[in-house]
Amino acid sequence: MKIIPGVASKDLAEKVSEELNEDLVPVERERFPDGEIYVRFEEDLEDERIVIVQSTCYPPNQNYMELFFMIDAAKDLGAEKVEVVMPYFGYARQDKRFEPGEAVSLNTVAKLLESSGADEIYTMDYHPQQMEETPEVFDIPAHNLTASDLLAEHVEENFDLKNPVVLGPDAGAENWARKAGEAIGADWDFMMKKRLDSEDVEITLPEIDVEGRDVLLVDDIISTGGTMCEAIMLLKENRARDVYACCTHPVLSGDALENIMEAGALEIIGTDTIESEVSEVSVAPVIAEAILQ
Ligand code: R5P
Repeated sequence: MKIIPGVASKDLAEKVSEELNEDLVPVERERFPDGEIYVRFEEDLEDERIVIVQSTCYPPNQNYMELFFMIDAAKDLGAEKVEVVMPYFGYARQDKRFEPGEAVSLNTVAKLLESSGADEIYTMDYHPQQMEETPEVFDIPAHNLTASDLLAEHVEENFDLKNPVVLGPDAGAENWARKAGEAIGADWDFMMKKRLDSEDVEITLPEIDVEGRDVLLVDDIISTGGTMCEAIMLLKENRARDVYACCTHPVLSGDALENIMEAGALEIIGTDTIESEVSEVSVAPVIAEAILQ
């Protein structure tokens, strides 16, 4: 087996190779003056089981294009099997036609991944479906892994929690909250969210007393931070003690970090599916375990 690091996941790919004790393939990259990209593997891939690690986060178009080139080239160079680890699955949020005439970007990128030659896909806390369900958009084997338990364990190990409760900021986060709560033996539940526009949401608290308790908010993505900010302010109004804003994918658009801290979070904790300043938890062990199964 050989591990190929995509440009967006170099550190994570290295950690996965260490976990698996397998070689990392050196990759030469160039950018042409017109913006086109060039990729070259500096090692022979013939008859190898290849694992490419590439999150298709910002800039998604460029990261996707590099991924397509790498899959196709690995196949063309004689790799026996090409497995794609896409910890953050860009374009997955447009999983249906919400308005007439819209392009369903998830379907398009899934077709492109398959036609490039991917034999198997691994992703994490895949937005359109709940935890551990197989992404249905693929005809090839595909696996949806989760980091919600790792996030909760990280908070428990690093902070002195007082009577903690794990909450998902909306109904879609129910399973992530459950998994995280069970991992640390804490109560868990989820809030109800109504989206008003792309940045503004309205959130209501479930029937749970948060007064004086530490709260772990667990979600798949922090993008604009609007969801977390509303949830945190509501928790603070209800006299919660410390609030930890946890997510698998720290997309962090605009002033998300500053806004969440201003809303009253004690800490913001993410994973390295997207390499960011809050990527304190590595998903490498989960990926390595899945690849070995
Ligand atoms: C929505 O259903 C997702 O699970 C996240 O709650 C959402 O993507 C977060 O976005 P934002 O940070 O922009 O509120």
